[in-house]
Amino acid sequence: MSTDLAIETTGLVKVFGENRAVDGVDLRVPTGTVYGVLGPNGAGKTTTVRMLATLLRPDGGEARVFGKDVQRDADAVRSRVSLTGQYASVDEDLTGTENLVLLARLLGHSKPAARERAAQLLEAFGLREASDKQVKNYSGGMRRRIDIAASILNTPDLLFLDEPTTGLDPRSRNQVWDIVRAVVAQGTTVLLTTQYLDEADQLASRIAVIDHGKVIAEGTKGELKASVGSGAVHLRLREAGQRPEAERVLAAALGAEVVLDPDPVALTARVDGSGSDRGAAEQAAHALAELARNGITVDNFALGQPSLDEVFLALTDKKGEAA
Ligand SMILES: Nc1ncnc2c1ncn2[C@@H]1O[C@H](COP(=O)(O)OP(=O)(O)OP(=O)(O)O)[C@@H](O)[C@H]1O
Ligand SMILES: [Mg+2]
Repeated sequence: MSTDLAIETTGLVKVFGENRAVDGVDLRVPTGTVYGVLGPNGAGKTTTVRMLATLLRPDGGEARVFGKDVQRDADAVRSRVSLTGQYASVDEDLTGTENLVLLARLLGHSKPAARERAAQLLEAFGLREASDKQVKNYSGGMRRRIDIAASILNTPDLLFLDEPTTGLDPRSRNQVWDIVRAVVAQGTTVLLTTQYLDEADQLASRIAVIDHGKVIAEGTKGELKASVGSGAVHLRLREAGQRPEAERVLAAALGAEVVLDPDPVALTARVDGSGSDRGAAEQAAHALAELARNGITVDNFALGQPSLDEVFLALTDKKGEAA
């Protein structure tokens, strides 16, 4: 058991009736980072988080948080983690200040200390003006920020953020992202679940992609993108008249479908490094050489990495094929 892991699970299982909501999940989350758990609705993200936060009992496998077993050492785990749920926990009828002061008091802070911590967090989260309003009158973005504030009253060693930005507008989402970055800068490890690829791309150092209760891919963003191995090569020709010939040469060189762009001199082809010894860049270079050999002049050329969106679709496609 490595001590630099905030979370380590092996074969974690949770069954609801016939439904294996979490079906043998292995996770290794290094301390001090944001770890992204990415998956569609019903993938098992919340269920996994609830087991790690000791709110739900696993039906199989093992889970350790900072080396402590979530079942045998639940109290030790609880003392070091905090959870901001998909469905939040602050009291709607209380004001922002009242909520934070109350929770800080429950955590054992003296009244003045609780007041001070509440004021500090409300300020830091851009909620000073809303501090005396009832939470039921908060916008979705304000609500999400007060939820996170409530979960870091005592700086936790590990913070679970379950879909912290679902339903937020881009501006509020950016505010939450900044808060997450600030929390991590203070040394907290964050396990973030999300359905948004760009969110994982923005925040997470490593990502586990889960679907139907199973981890279908894991790695850094770069590794995940590389594992799918596909990118796109975009070309602009000197002469539109050469495009049919260029299409033929590219298709042969890359063994991939070539897409004719609306622009009559432009073409795009997928470069799939995965099924070949050659990487995507090498394949693209080979394709360019073939075009030159056939007397086709390329004015402009770009090789793009796949987006995490493409990665996700490719992964879930692959799984569909295998099933
Ligand atoms: N308490 C429960 N009782 C029965 N089934 C449950 C319970 N909680 C979750 N499930 C089921 O377990 C599966 C995984 O649910 P979970 O909430 O973990 O998914 P999720 O990845 O968090 O999805 P979402 O993105 O929609 O929040 C789903 O099929 C869900 O219906
Ligand atoms: Mg969920």
